[in-house]
Amino acid sequence: MSNIETARLAPDATGIAEAARLLGAGGLVSFPTETVYGLGGDARNGTAVARIFEAKGRPSFNPLIVHVPDLDTAERYADISGALKTLARRFWPGPLTLVAPLKTGHGLSPLVTAGLETLAIRVPSHPVAQDVLRAFGGPVAAPSANPSGRISPTTAAHVMAGLHGKIEAVLDAGACPVGLESTIVGAAPLALLRPGGLAQEDIEAAVGPLEHAGDAITAPGQMLSHYAPDATVRLNANCANPGEVLLGFGPMQSDLNLSVAGDLVEAAANLFDHLHMLDATGYPIAVAPIPNCGLGQAINDRLRRAAAPRG
Ligand code: TXA
Ligand code: MG
Repeated sequence: MSNIETARLAPDATGIAEAARLLGAGGLVSFPTETVYGLGGDARNGTAVARIFEAKGRPSFNPLIVHVPDLDTAERYADISGALKTLARRFWPGPLTLVAPLKTGHGLSPLVTAGLETLAIRVPSHPVAQDVLRAFGGPVAAPSANPSGRISPTTAAHVMAGLHGKIEAVLDAGACPVGLESTIVGAAPLALLRPGGLAQEDIEAAVGPLEHAGDAITAPGQMLSHYAPDATVRLNANCANPGEVLLGFGPMQSDLNLSVAGDLVEAAANLFDHLHMLDATGYPIAVAPIPNCGLGQAINDRLRRAAAPRG
């Protein structure tokens, strides 16, 4: 999946309409925000979200930030209350991401939150980001538009250098004014999860002292370990033992199959959903071998976490 012609769109009415159309068709569009360029896809479309991870070459499924045009829209997806609500009212739109409990019936792909019960959500202030979000009319999942392990992009040229051929389009609106990722704040306890474009002092002036994630949550991605199925998980299984349910991959007999066609993008899009469904059966889960290339690396990373002994 590296031979797409990446279009460079102007941030005018035509370019915005084309960006919205591509997003609606499950395409990936990089767009400017006031912080950095985001790599956007429809947050409700599991395949689009899986393609985001593939395009970035991420070795694991870190949860993604969902972008919406205003607080009212954000509240369809997350339960924003207390100090988080104060922060939203004070600093949105702007370089602030809030981590809040997911609302039931949110309709987002579980790949967006990597199976967590919380959602990282933000309302960007960049006029072009606002235009895209309003023209598209749905929630947009967007990590920074750089290949995993590389520096975040603050110009369309940076985006092109890293992701050309892997995404449908980039909206070119020049340099991002902030140039640093958004500050991430979580609740319960109210804590700074990632320093960023909005200063801690400004946040504390509004809601009082923040705890530091510090040792408890060294990197937000590590919160992934909080999610594990209730059932035990056995990896690299070619068939189910008696009393197990089998999660298949490729053409084989199984209870649920990540991708009969052996397509890793389809498998990634199905992963969290299928694990949840098999977990609900109450039986131990056996999982077929998944090739460890492309998105398979992230799928296997996630499966290893699900299978790890827990206390
Ligand atoms: O400025 C930004 O925030 C940019 C622009 C594009 O909006 N986006 C960005 O996304 O920096 P990304 O994917 O590079 O970083 C998102 C961070 C990751 O560290 C991820 O682990 C954390 O947010 N995160 C996402 N969901 C989370 C959750 N439910 N709990 C804790 N951390 C979460
Ligand atoms: Mg990033």
